[in-house]
Amino acid sequence: MADDPPRPLVEEAFDRLLGTLDQPMLVVTARRGDERSGCLVGFAGQVSIRPARFLVCLSVQNRTYRVARHVDHLAVHFVPESSADLARLFGGHTGDDVDKFACCTWHDGPHGLPILDACDNRFVGTVVERLPLGDHVGFLLEPDHVHHGADGHQLDLHRAKRIDPGHPA
Ligand SMILES: Cc1cc2nc3c(=O)[nH]c(=O)nc-3n(C[C@H](O)[C@H](O)[C@H](O)COP(=O)(O)O)c2cc1C
Repeated sequence: MADDPPRPLVEEAFDRLLGTLDQPMLVVTARRGDERSGCLVGFAGQVSIRPARFLVCLSVQNRTYRVARHVDHLAVHFVPESSADLARLFGGHTGDDVDKFACCTWHDGPHGLPILDACDNRFVGTVVERLPLGDHVGFLLEPDHVHHGADGHQLDLHRAKRIDPGHPA
């Protein structure tokens, strides 16, 4: 029987394979007291129909993770195709260096969470579980406030790939 290929080669091939998949880009925001945080997220998706459950994964390097790990609610925004600038702001800069909320329009939403005005499709969810998954932690959300605005195209990974993450994963 042939030996398994070396791990780094498998991981490189796996990265290339996954790079062919497209996925919608989201911005997840969190608030703890006066501190607001948010970052661009691609590792996310629905994981149960009934009960409704959605998993968002935050890198332990990110400021947003450091805020989110203490709170019970998160807001998940679907980024419209026309809002690549918002994706660049939330994905290409870290709240450790930049006040992202001074650079976009937003308002207070449920549980005082910052809601991004550019994202008409979004929900707020209660964190029902935190799951260590590797270099990311999964936040399992039960949706409790849903805002479904106009249907339209979402920004996808192929367009967001050119953004250099504010924090290395
Ligand atoms: C295409 C793309 C996808 C990303 N996906 C995720 C993700 O799924 N989870 C995550 O925590 N960070 C992800 N990031 C990285 C963060 O958005 C980025 O490091 C951000 O600057 C962190 O901001 P913060 O430190 O203010 O939280 C992604 C970045 C890009 C460009």
